[in-house]
Amino acid sequence: KPVYILNGPNLNLLGLRQPEIYGRETLSDVAESCAALAEDLGLTIRFHQSNHEGALIDWIHEARTSGAGVIINPAALTHTSVAILDALLAFDGPVLEVHISNVHKREAFRHHSFVSGRAEGVIAGFGTEGYLLALRRMATLLKAAK
Ligand code: DQA
Repeated sequence: KPVYILNGPNLNLLGLRQPEIYGRETLSDVAESCAALAEDLGLTIRFHQSNHEGALIDWIHEARTSGAGVIINPAALTHTSVAILDALLAFDGPVLEVHISNVHKREAFRHHSFVSGRAEGVIAGFGTEGYLLALRRMATLLKAAK
């Protein structure tokens, strides 16, 4: 079963959008590094991005039946979406939350996450490396679950 790596709104602009905060790497660069590491770890991944909450929810539902784990950067929806939390609550496997920036160093409205209460772990402020760290952790969690 694949690990779903899901990315929320505006992350399609990664590398172009506020590079002083999010860096110069693009989301396709991230997808490529994740694919390379996944191969080393013996994991299959499904890497997706959408600007639409419903699309992210549909992928979480897909993961319910055919996914091993979910790594999610819900972007701004982190701070607003009970619907994404509910979708993750309907999923049985491990969930890891990733933020490229250190949300706790930023505006107060970024300090609360609806998703964190459902996540096995949270990575914030490690740049795009956070995705790779989450993938390594996911490999450990999936191995332990066997
Ligand atoms: C983000 C942090 C969020 O607060 C923000 O809305 C994003 C990206 C991050 O990866 O640092 O879009 O999730």
